[in-house]
Amino acid sequence: MIVCGALGRIGQELIRLIDESDDLTLAAAVDRAGGEGIVQRLSDYQGEADVLVDFSHHAAIWEIMDYCEARGIPAVIATTGHNPEEAARITEATTRIPVFHSANMSVGVALLARLVQQAAAIFRGCDVEIIEKHHNRKIDAPSGTALLLAEAVKKERPDSVYVHGRVGNAKREPNEIGIHALRMGSVVGEHEVIFSTDSQTITLSHSAHDRSLFAEGAIAAANFILDKPIGLYRMEQLLGE
Ligand SMILES: NC(=O)c1ccc[n+]([C@@H]2O[C@H](COP(=O)([O-])OP(=O)(O)OC[C@H]3O[C@@H](n4cnc5c(N)ncnc54)[C@H](OP(=O)(O)O)[C@@H]3O)[C@@H](O)[C@H]2O)c1
Repeated sequence: MIVCGALGRIGQELIRLIDESDDLTLAAAVDRAGGEGIVQRLSDYQGEADVLVDFSHHAAIWEIMDYCEARGIPAVIATTGHNPEEAARITEATTRIPVFHSANMSVGVALLARLVQQAAAIFRGCDVEIIEKHHNRKIDAPSGTALLLAEAVKKERPDSVYVHGRVGNAKREPNEIGIHALRMGSVVGEHEVIFSTDSQTITLSHSAHDRSLFAEGAIAAANFILDKPIGLYRMEQLLGE
């Protein structure tokens, strides 16, 4: 397995799990800072690899997709915050190699997204608000997971409009999904989706206690796409099997 973002918070967890595992081998640890045992540029590694896992930075996607396509290596893209051009590059790659793409590698969040979609289908007219909390070093806001959950609502309510925070004269419209990003301390990741009518409120939530959860999910995703045909794979498919 090639790990991109190897010196990062999740990359380190991933390498720890690979070291502890009997059936996984680290092919290359890639991070732009370089250092002992670290490959600074992905293209510098031309040794064997069955799969690449990315927990680096959204801007690295060009180099990663070019590399995986050129070598026919399946990719697990766990990095978040891709702009529309970067997201389109991922979509393009899914026509050439197997790509597993998920803003949240946690099976629990995949389940939460299913429950959110069900709730949105049952409580059609209610107000939906999403609150996400993360550590104060997180780059992108709102989190990719908050957007994933908003998309789960939008599947049932296609006219939904995302409103990021509210300030000033900001009276709520019925089709709004309010999305609020809190950044503080060392919070690993918390997401709450609130469904509120005039008479009741339902809150569905998920808390990540430990970052290893994402690394474990990425390993499951890597095993899942190893022998898959070219295409796009998501957590839902992994859950389904
Ligand atoms: N899908 C999921 O379940 C999930 C879960 C958690 C996090 N994430 C996402 O995964 C990414 C990494 O998260 P993290 O908390 O581990 O971040 P992090 O601690 O900042 O780690 C990212 C690492 O990647 C390095 N890097 C930056 N640009 C690079 C490039 N072009 N090539 C190679 N390495 C590069 C960074 O180096 P510098 O320090 O020099 O910038 C850093 O060492 C973020 O996008 C985060 O949102 C996804």
